[in-house]
Amino acid sequence: MGNVLEIRDLHVQIDDKPILKGLNLTLKSGEIHALMGPNGSGKTTLSFTLMGHPRYEVTKGEVLLNGENVLEMAPDERARRGLFLAFQYPSEVAGVTVANFLRTALNSVRGTELSAWDFFELMQQKMNFLEMDESFAKRYLNEGFSGGEKKRNEMLQMLLLQPKFGILDETDSGLDIDALKVVSKGVNALRSEDFGALVITHYNRILRYIEPDVVHVMIDGRIERTGGKELSLELEEKGYDWIKEDVEAARGR
Ligand SMILES: Nc1ncnc2c1ncn2[C@@H]1O[C@H](COP(=O)(O)OP(=O)(O)OP(=O)(O)O)[C@@H](O)[C@H]1O
Ligand SMILES: [Mg+2]
Repeated sequence: MGNVLEIRDLHVQIDDKPILKGLNLTLKSGEIHALMGPNGSGKTTLSFTLMGHPRYEVTKGEVLLNGENVLEMAPDERARRGLFLAFQYPSEVAGVTVANFLRTALNSVRGTELSAWDFFELMQQKMNFLEMDESFAKRYLNEGFSGGEKKRNEMLQMLLLQPKFGILDETDSGLDIDALKVVSKGVNALRSEDFGALVITHYNRILRYIEPDVVHVMIDGRIERTGGKELSLELEEKGYDWIKEDVEAARGR
């Protein structure tokens, strides 16, 4: 069954400063989209807004998941409806182990209580797939995790939750090749008719492992170019200035 996440004319501000200025993007299940763009263009703002972070004020536009208004849903409701958001800087949660966190998240999203035994079996299967050490599950969430370990943990969460759409904000600059491969393995494992992803990234490196169907370029709060994989290669070669100049001319600055 096809799912659609539609972002229409989205305007978002932080402390009265406009950041997203009319963003349009439609993500369908079965598709992997890459979102690229210079520092400060608003990529992380988009992921926080999709998550429902209270600091990000939507002043105009809408976000629809299969026609339903996402912006009216509380963050946990968004997760239950099948949105998964992984963050550039996942935070530490004191006193909660990875296993407990994942079990709570899974039960909350499924709306059923999985037995401890069934949960551990499922978790172990996914951990094996991601080549994670068993001891990892007993650690406290994100406490002292390396960048790569945080990524593994996020991917473990995504594989368990099996969302309709994954929004992944990558600091791939901080990820070694193994961590990149883990992220890619997670996304590729879910790749199907029932799953779509928006992968936010700066470099082509990760796009070598996750083949995007569509590549978007965000400049100053809007998507200014959309193309295929060749667009990301063109960006690698030419940078963003050529697009920025067009945008400035078009927006009359
Ligand atoms: N919590 C905040 N408070 C104040 N300004 C913010 C906040 N979050 C984002 N901004 C501003 O919004 C703009 C867009 O930031 P955002 O983090 O969305 O960019 P980005 O495209 O993710 O950049 P990068 O590629 O560096 O990750 C920046 O000017 C940033 O300073
Ligand atoms: Mg960012």
